[in-house]
Amino acid sequence: MASPVERDPRGQGPDAPWHLQGSRTPVFDEVTLTELSVKGEIPRDLNGRYFRNTANPQTGYTEHWFIGDGMIHGVELREGRANWYRNRWVRTPMFDHPGVDRLTLALDPEKFTFDHAVSAANTHIIGHGGRILALEEGSYPYELTPELDTVGPHTFGGVLTGPFTAHPKFCPDTGEMLAFGYAQLPPYLTYYRVSPTGEMVQKTDITVTGPTMMHDFAATRDHVVFMDLPAIFDMELAMQGGMPIRWSDDYPPRFGVMPREGADADVQWFDVAPSYCFHTLNAFDDGDQVVVHGMRVPEIWRDSSAMDMSTPAAPEDQPRLYEWRLDRATGSVKEQYLDDAPSEFPRINHARQGHAMRYGYALGVGDPSGASLGGAVFKYDMANGAAREVHAFPEGHEPGESVFVPREGATAEDDGYLMTYVWQPETDTSYMVILDAQNVAGEPLAEIHVPRRIVSGFHSSWIPDPR
Ligand SMILES: [Fe+2]
Repeated sequence: MASPVERDPRGQGPDAPWHLQGSRTPVFDEVTLTELSVKGEIPRDLNGRYFRNTANPQTGYTEHWFIGDGMIHGVELREGRANWYRNRWVRTPMFDHPGVDRLTLALDPEKFTFDHAVSAANTHIIGHGGRILALEEGSYPYELTPELDTVGPHTFGGVLTGPFTAHPKFCPDTGEMLAFGYAQLPPYLTYYRVSPTGEMVQKTDITVTGPTMMHDFAATRDHVVFMDLPAIFDMELAMQGGMPIRWSDDYPPRFGVMPREGADADVQWFDVAPSYCFHTLNAFDDGDQVVVHGMRVPEIWRDSSAMDMSTPAAPEDQPRLYEWRLDRATGSVKEQYLDDAPSEFPRINHARQGHAMRYGYALGVGDPSGASLGGAVFKYDMANGAAREVHAFPEGHEPGESVFVPREGATAEDDGYLMTYVWQPETDTSYMVILDAQNVAGEPLAEIHVPRRIVSGFHSSWIPDPR
């Protein structure tokens, strides 16, 4: 289906914003392709679907990268074959009203309430409790079918009454989904615990200083960690229709550690150096210490939230792998960078979620000299000083977030596959690449070529067939 919506000229041509150019240029139709050419061999134990969520405005224009209509790009693999590629927008009230800003659709000005079904649904896509959910942190999750048709907003049977993060954590020990939501009005932060079968079993308001933008959090086996950092909601900016978040020097940066089944009064707060962390890699308990690994930047959005990455910032201003060590016994914090190369979109083997892990994976966006790699897959060996192994793609090719999938019967932590979509500029087409996670720098195991652009975007998941 092609979008009948009129294109906004501000999203077209060489003057279009960075987030609407190159691999990020929106597509305006929904297709299903079943004849895909494959180079190499698709591992036969990969049976399921790889999904990536992207911002893909129907009008072709948004002021900010993070607010375009969510579109999912999926590839189904079975028994060594690529069955299909398809792309579908998530049907939300924002999709039904192209170009109308969120606040206009969501805010009831008389009651001053928000309709949390108004979502761009554009950030992540996950599977839990037999459901596939498209997530965006300002809103309710949206349930989709395995063929990417929209079922509708999901509120856990009405228990969820506020926003839900795009970055829940999946506990390998209990099968629970641990999550939170942040809002512009009190309660600013709410913690959620969801059972393995998808019932919300805990909903706890957490006291933070103000309306912080909490994009991600962390979970260990025993604790959750909230990142209460100085990126703050600004109502005046919201009324103007842009990205309503700015840096604040007055807001105290803190991490809060809470037992997983704890209450607001149980949160132990730690002062940390001012910074922002969009994404954590993992966290774990080490005696009295809670260790958090994530991609840190010194600050974000001081004067503007504009994101133009056509000219890379200095490496020290870009996201780099970092460690916070929070000592629950002494209340002290030790923090340090673990790598000097910029990287983002960190992922792990989910079997190590909440536990000390040896390996981390990330999208490399530069090297320590400041040179842009144009995108590479990094594998970090955390037992070896976060030593980096790199898969570099051909010049100009742009990979996205890569997801680790264990090999069937795997016993080693890195015995499995890394998969992502890669855009190639020379043909404006894309391919899904499958790497051997034990030989990241080596030749890909398989490339599944899609004869059109798979738009670069945000987060992705491998959702295996039910067993
Ligand atoms: Fe994210």
